[in-house]
Amino acid sequence: MSKNKKVETFHISTYGCQMNIADSSTLASSLITRGYRRVKDEKDADLIVLNTCSVREKAENRIYGRLGEIFKYKREKPHMKIAVVGCMAQRLGDELIKKVPHVDFVLGTDRLFELPDALEGIEGTSSVMTAFGHENIDMIAPVKDSDYSGFVTISRGCDNYCTYCIVPYVRGKEVSHSADYIVDAVKKMVDEGVVEATLLGQNVNSYKYEDTDFPKLLTRVAKETGIKRLRFMTSHPKDLSKRLVDVMADDPTIMPHIHLPVQAGNNRVLEKMGRIYTIEHYMKIIEYIKKTLPYVILTTDIIVGYPTETESEYEETLKVVSEVRYDSAFMFRYSVRPGTVAAKFDDDVPEADKIRRLQKLIKLQQGISYEQNQQELNQIRFSLVEGYSKRDKNKMRARTDGNKTVIFEAHGLKNGTIVPIRIKAADAFTLHGEVVEPN
Ligand code: 5AD
Ligand code: SF4
Repeated sequence: MSKNKKVETFHISTYGCQMNIADSSTLASSLITRGYRRVKDEKDADLIVLNTCSVREKAENRIYGRLGEIFKYKREKPHMKIAVVGCMAQRLGDELIKKVPHVDFVLGTDRLFELPDALEGIEGTSSVMTAFGHENIDMIAPVKDSDYSGFVTISRGCDNYCTYCIVPYVRGKEVSHSADYIVDAVKKMVDEGVVEATLLGQNVNSYKYEDTDFPKLLTRVAKETGIKRLRFMTSHPKDLSKRLVDVMADDPTIMPHIHLPVQAGNNRVLEKMGRIYTIEHYMKIIEYIKKTLPYVILTTDIIVGYPTETESEYEETLKVVSEVRYDSAFMFRYSVRPGTVAAKFDDDVPEADKIRRLQKLIKLQQGISYEQNQQELNQIRFSLVEGYSKRDKNKMRARTDGNKTVIFEAHGLKNGTIVPIRIKAADAFTLHGEVVEPN
């Protein structure tokens, strides 16, 4: 096959957080608009895009593994182009092409939308682009993620510089989209049949555009767009206000789920992480949320084995987990990210201790998730149908208002329908139920 054959088809694989899923959707729509065709199987694509994550070392190692696999396709198909975009592209830039020479494009977090231009060799573009430049942030059109749900990025970047975190370095300074842009984007999605929108930001609570803060924005989107279900993530405990919780209590459009990363249960560790809040402050917010929202699903992120974390400090994390009783949690052992403040700390917790701490925490949380899910039994949860169950093709899958997956017996329900489901059984990860038939 000739090296000069034109690129006609593409495939995008997305790694990491919802922000990347949203960016991939936007990139896909711009490629489609330019005449490229999306294919389901990577092997059939002329252009393979990996939208990457840098948050932990494991995420980056996985990409190197994938690039090795993809190289095999390129050997058989010399005209194939490979693009690495997103956080890892931003972090490594030129270095990535030096390390993996068969990569054709390296486009950072603010530049991935220029991939169609770079591909066509349009003037001003090059194969490695990592400069930040989100002055024209409102020019990036959001797109729906599926026929019934969409992500809308309300702010890009992060100003918090938690000491362990690479995100501020790879996503740059926080910049908020205008409230009108966000309201319009959701309205457009609703016109196209979307019933559930998720507003995304590294720290949605610090959203600010002119005199609109996050509670105001959420109210506007809930009231002005006609969206049926509204979600948001991620929240930062230092900025989550009582007003936000009050807005959630007042508007049934806003789904009762708050993802509030605690990261650690000990104040010295929190301070070393640069999290700015104390655990007492965090617990006060949790108390207010539970008092104000009669039904709320709480989820979190936790890091164990932070440099200098002692065994008893780690146990304070376990205590918080037992007290808050999260419905689920993303739990990690600390991973050094070069270039962050914490990378200069002595990573003195032995790997074996990190692993043991993580396993014990996961076990504790799984027990709590199981118990929390038992509380759902016999309740009716309005749930959004997302398709057929992956494990059992005779069953369908839906998402409850609290963002839990429920598997139920039904056939032929259209994706995107919202149905009342009575929960009949539950394990630590999934609910099982049946559709409540109208009387
Ligand atoms: N090591 C381990 N976990 C990390 N996270 C972010 N950076 C690191 C790191 N260096 C976790 C945090 C964050 C989530 C998205 O990833 O818990 O909230
Ligand atoms: Fe990273 Fe902290 Fe910003 Fe979250 S708030 S993206 S953990 S720096």
